[in-house]
Amino acid sequence: MDKDRVIIFDTTLRDAEQTPGASLTVPDKLEIARQLARLKVDVIEAGFPISSNEDFEAVHRIGQEVEGPVICGLARVVLKDIDRVGEALEGADSPRIHTFVGTSDIHLAGQLRKGKSEVLEMAVAAVKHARSYCDDVEFSPMDATRTDPDYLREVVQATIEAGATTINIPDTVGYAVPEQFGELIRQLLAKVPNMSDAVLSVHCHDDLGMAVSNTLVAVKAGARQVECTLNALGERAGNAALEEVVMSLATRSDYFGLHCGVVSKEIIASSRLVSRLMGIGVPPNKAIVGANAFAHSSGIHQDGVLKERNTFEIMSPRDVGLEDTSIILTARSGRHALRHRLEELGYRLSQEELDKAYERFLTVADKKKEVFDEDLMAIIGDEISNVPEKFQLEYLHTVSGTGTVPTATVRIRIDGGDCVQESARGDGPVDATYAAISQATGVVAKVDEYVIKAITGGSQAMGEVTLRVVEGDLKITGRGASTDIIEASGKAFVDALNRLEVRRGRQVQQAQAV
Ligand code: KIV
Ligand code: ZN
Repeated sequence: MDKDRVIIFDTTLRDAEQTPGASLTVPDKLEIARQLARLKVDVIEAGFPISSNEDFEAVHRIGQEVEGPVICGLARVVLKDIDRVGEALEGADSPRIHTFVGTSDIHLAGQLRKGKSEVLEMAVAAVKHARSYCDDVEFSPMDATRTDPDYLREVVQATIEAGATTINIPDTVGYAVPEQFGELIRQLLAKVPNMSDAVLSVHCHDDLGMAVSNTLVAVKAGARQVECTLNALGERAGNAALEEVVMSLATRSDYFGLHCGVVSKEIIASSRLVSRLMGIGVPPNKAIVGANAFAHSSGIHQDGVLKERNTFEIMSPRDVGLEDTSIILTARSGRHALRHRLEELGYRLSQEELDKAYERFLTVADKKKEVFDEDLMAIIGDEISNVPEKFQLEYLHTVSGTGTVPTATVRIRIDGGDCVQESARGDGPVDATYAAISQATGVVAKVDEYVIKAITGGSQAMGEVTLRVVEGDLKITGRGASTDIIEASGKAFVDALNRLEVRRGRQVQQAQAV
C-alpha cells in the first residue's frame, strides 16, 4: 500500500442523507453512486440497511450494480444490524461493514446507559460478527473527540485485535479544534500497539466550521482515510466537504505530500447531481463548487487574471470540471446541441429524459430567446427527477393586484389519474396558490423557508424557488423553476409535497424495522 495515498470514503448517501430537508429515492441513490464511481472515490457508504427497507434495497442494488469502489453499509454494534448489512451486501464485489458505538462518557451514560467494559465487549463482538461476512470491517468509536483518551485507545486496540481493518475516529458533534485533533491522531498512531494493522480514518462534522481543517490536520498527522460528503452536506451543519479536501490535497501537495485517486474533473458534475437530487442548492460562495468560486468581480482581480491567471487563481476551474461557456442555446438549437451542452455541464440523460428536457427547453427558449447554462441547470433540476410524482401541477391561475383579494385556482393530477380542482384566497398570489394546492392534495404543510432567485439577468429571467415545508416532525425541501415566478413557487411546493410522501413512507418502514 502506497503510504502517501489518502483513501476517500464518501458518505453522501448515508450521512448527507440525514441532512435536514434531504430525501433520496433508491434510483436517486443509484444515480449518485454511479457518479461517485466516475469520480473514483475509494469507498461509497451506501446506507444504513437496518433503518428501512429502502435503505436496504439501495445498499443492495449499489453493491450489485456499481463497479469500482468498495461498497459499505452501516450498522450499530448490534448483531441484527450487522446481519442486515451482510445480507444487503451479499454478492457485492468489494463489500465493507462499518459498525459503530458511542464511547464518550456522555454517550455511555446518556444514551447507551452501559458501562465502559460492556460497550467494549459489544464493539469486539460486533467486529468479530462482521468479519464472519467479509474481510473488510470498519469500526467507529462514536463521539471519539469527547471520549476519555485512555479508553479510546483501549477500544481501538481491542477492535483491531477482533479484526477491524479500518478504525474511524469521528468528531461526531464537530467539537474538535485542529491542533488537538491532530494530536489525538498522532497519539493513536504512537500509542496503540497494533495501530499499523488497520487504516486510521477520520470523520469530521462542521458544527464549528472546522470539519475540513480537522480532516486535513488529521491526514498531516498520519490518518490515511477521510470520510466526507459532496457539498459538505450531512447531519446538522454537515460533514467535511469532499471537494474541499480533495482540492486542498491537490493544490497544496507541496505541503501535504499526499495524493488520492479522485478524478477532480468530475467534481462539478457530482456536486450538481447531488444538489439536484437532494433538492438542496449550493451556496454561491461555497468553496470549489459554488457559483462564485471562480468568479472574479473586483476590477483589480479581473485585470490580474486576464494578464496572468495565477495572480488571483490558485486552481484552474477546468481541474474541477468547469468548462468555459461558449455556447448559448436558442429556440433554433436542436436536441443534439442540447445534449452536447448538458454533457459539458455534467448531466448524462437517458433518451427519455433528454426528450422531456428538450420540450421544456423549447418553451423556455420561446420566452427567453437565449438560454444560458444556469437556465439549463434549472430546467434539469425541475424536469428530471426520480421522485415519484404523486401530485402533478396541471393548471395554475392567479389573480392579484392593488385593491384585489389575491386568489388562485389550481388543478392537481393525483397518482396519474383524475384531477382535483380547488380555489383559495391568500395574503398574496403565492400564499393563495399554496392554500389551493393544500386543499387539492389534502396535505397541509407549512412553508417555513422560501427563497426566490433570478437565475440569469433581465426581466425575462427564469425564477427559481427553493422552499422548505414542515409537516409534523418532517422538514422537506422542494425546488421549482419557471419564467413565471408564481408557477415556480407552485412547482416548488408540489415538489416538496411529493418528497414528503417518499419520506413519510420511509418513516413508517423505519418505525417497523428498528
Ligand atoms: O458522526 C458520526 O459519528 C457518524 C458515525 C456513524 C461514524 O456518522
Ligand atoms: Zn457523521
